[in-house]
Amino acid sequence: MEGASSVGIEEQRLFGDLPFPLVLSPNQQGPKRPEDLRPWVERNKGQIQEALLKHGAVLFRGFPVPSPEHFAEFALGLGRECFPYLGGNAVRRNIVGDVVFTANEAPPSEKIPWHHEMAQLPSYPTTLLFYCDLPPKSGGETPLVLSYRVLERVAAAHPGFVARLKQEGVKYIRVAPEEDDPTSALGRSWKSTFKAGTREEAEERMRADGFTWEWLPNGDLKTVSAPLQAVKPHPLTGRDQFFNQLIAAYTGWQDKRNDSKRAVVFAESGELLPEDAMAFCAQVSDEEAAACKWQQGDVILVDNLQAMHSRRTFEPPRRILASLLK
Ligand code: FE2
Repeated sequence: MEGASSVGIEEQRLFGDLPFPLVLSPNQQGPKRPEDLRPWVERNKGQIQEALLKHGAVLFRGFPVPSPEHFAEFALGLGRECFPYLGGNAVRRNIVGDVVFTANEAPPSEKIPWHHEMAQLPSYPTTLLFYCDLPPKSGGETPLVLSYRVLERVAAAHPGFVARLKQEGVKYIRVAPEEDDPTSALGRSWKSTFKAGTREEAEERMRADGFTWEWLPNGDLKTVSAPLQAVKPHPLTGRDQFFNQLIAAYTGWQDKRNDSKRAVVFAESGELLPEDAMAFCAQVSDEEAAACKWQQGDVILVDNLQAMHSRRTFEPPRRILASLLK
């Protein structure tokens, strides 16, 4: 790629001959001033996409990205349409127009479990960008893992479980409050989840996405998703992925409104997921992960169809921003 070279960092993993994530830094010909950034991304977007498909994630380190506005330029330079955060669970705030918003603002002491962004919904972003505006004093990494590696190991250890996932798919069950609850990682109100002012508007949106629902006496909304695939091939590589929200739902959808062990069920039988297999999914994801320490100005590009992400606990302040692409 013109103006950038692959560099090695300690936290990187090597799978076959492919580093994960790929780490790129500007070289002599690379962009030096913030105003050079967007033209550089635009000139190289084809190669950036290729690298992303090949490696699953790319960390851009040492590029001139001094502010969230420049991060927005980086994202826009890829020339892809932005994906609105509609239907997601996390409380987020817009920072630069509809392009950049805060990453999940769950409390620092809470870790965010493994997930593909919005995989519990019928439509989801294919590409994610994360930006480090302010690195935490300690912790706060955004670990990444290649989903096919998780699937291979889970299928070897729990073949019956994976066969059932493939055959039945799953349904996700969640209770959302009427108003945003920032004390919970899934505290997004049904009003902001569905960008709805009234119950009727929320119902219209849910109907379109295949949900069934129940209004609870206190104004909360319980939703059950349409049956969704939990294992599916990557549309470009054809390789099977553990593409779902199982670990996040099973271990993380826990607050005063939700019981995580009941947050996801097999779609046909309605049965709960086996505890041992689910513990193994989380364990192998940790084992196969790369967790890069954030540095100010870092941008990580993630193929949301190939890689899961999570978040470690941290010592504040920390400001990681996100952008989602269709
Ligand atoms: Fe996420």
